[in-house]
Amino acid sequence: MRVSVSQSEIPAADADLLAVGLCEGEELPAEIASAPGAADAEGGFKKLSAVFPERPARVLVAGLGKRGELDPERLRVAAALVAKEAVRLKAASVAWALPEGSDPDALAEGLVTGTVLGAYRFDRFKSSDPEEPEPPRLDSLTLLAPEGVAAAAEVARVCAEAQNRARDLQSLPSNVATPSYLAARAEELAADHDALSVEVLGREEIAAKKMGGLVAVSQGSAEDPKLIVLRYAGGGSGETLGLIGKGVTFDTGGISLKPSGGMQEMKMDMSGAAAVLETVGAVAELDLELNLLAVIPSTENMPSGSAIKPGDIITQYSGKTVEINNTDAEGRLILADALAYAIEQGADRVVDIATLTGAVMIALGSTYAAVISNDDELAASVEEVARETGELVWRLPLHAEYKALMKGTFADLTNAAPKRKAGTISAAGFLEEFVGGTPWAHLDIAGTAWDVGRAYTGSDASGFGVRLLTALARSFTQ
Ligand code: BES
Ligand code: MN
Ligand code: ZN
Repeated sequence: MRVSVSQSEIPAADADLLAVGLCEGEELPAEIASAPGAADAEGGFKKLSAVFPERPARVLVAGLGKRGELDPERLRVAAALVAKEAVRLKAASVAWALPEGSDPDALAEGLVTGTVLGAYRFDRFKSSDPEEPEPPRLDSLTLLAPEGVAAAAEVARVCAEAQNRARDLQSLPSNVATPSYLAARAEELAADHDALSVEVLGREEIAAKKMGGLVAVSQGSAEDPKLIVLRYAGGGSGETLGLIGKGVTFDTGGISLKPSGGMQEMKMDMSGAAAVLETVGAVAELDLELNLLAVIPSTENMPSGSAIKPGDIITQYSGKTVEINNTDAEGRLILADALAYAIEQGADRVVDIATLTGAVMIALGSTYAAVISNDDELAASVEEVARETGELVWRLPLHAEYKALMKGTFADLTNAAPKRKAGTISAAGFLEEFVGGTPWAHLDIAGTAWDVGRAYTGSDASGFGVRLLTALARSFTQ
């Protein structure tokens, strides 16, 4: 989407549709206050009303609720509702009058993010119907705002577009978005940016490196697994932030097979990988001054004659042995190798992001992702950017008793806690065994990656994590 900032007055706004926000109990701008429809415009949050002044021809009034509650999140929602209405009205361009507020940059971010994400749709596999042609894409947003917000608007545009690309990767079916496909996306990113380089390991190289977790999970699948390593050299203090994303392109559960109802959704078990890939793309596009090391272990989790079986014992990349008591707890096995590898390769701080446990949906629904960390400072940084971006996180505790749940009977560790105790935390306790003393934060996005139901994320792929991780990377450059 083209995003621009213009100081035009409302009557001169040059777009198919103009949007203005209205808080409860406040007046519309003088230019449209006496136009047909204006008297009925409502300021209640999420209300949309149409007004028809002579110029411009069509104005959508977006209710923003109470003035005291106006924040970027409200604007993300309002802008997404406007974007959807614009598509319905076949408008290809929208102009938005920036509401008054104490932090215009943050409000501009909300409008841009909400519009770009709200206008998104995934319809590449639908044949076009000549009887009912698809409405045009909404492809242009003009903010009627002071020139000063232009930089913030551009950052927001880059992040939201990257988030939409992550949503594409999530939505692509597993017969398209294979580990090789994710690797090709990493290669494409590296080709687009000089500061990026990529390395991709296939099945034999993964085995040669003794990445026993990734070997084990992938051994039941005919698809070649990939370990994707992306390096971004942006300079700065010299520290390297490690980003690790779970890239299970389809999770059947393996021999511990999942129930068939709803299994199609498990194409999204690579949402962490999608978030990491497109975050790296956004960081490179924004030329951020820091170093990144992204490691994505990618495979399918399939049942077959060559698949791992409950009770099998494997040796992880770090040398620790693990008893696989549930083949459906596969994410932690591949992340364990990737975390150890990222740290060995020089990451000073690591953040992993994964659709790791169904339990996080029980605990936090689709509203918060869980964050679990061995480092208060890193956890606080994640919590702060979560508040800023609206990609919310809630910290869960690590405790020695949770780690005790992951002790193995016949090996160092088990991959599944007995009696399903503390599903989300015990999984993180397992991962902690592989980070040593390195500051680490784990994001469990099984609840927030899909079917979030906010106006700007819709009811399927949300792209959760791209704005959060890009903001985290930015916070490390300041
Ligand atoms: N990919 C799933 C977690 C998941 C569930 C993601 C629902 C998205 C939606 C993960 O690999 C898994 O199966 N976890 C198990 C772990 C258990 C066997 C210890 C789970 O949560 O049931
Ligand atoms: Mn699983
Ligand atoms: Zn999984």
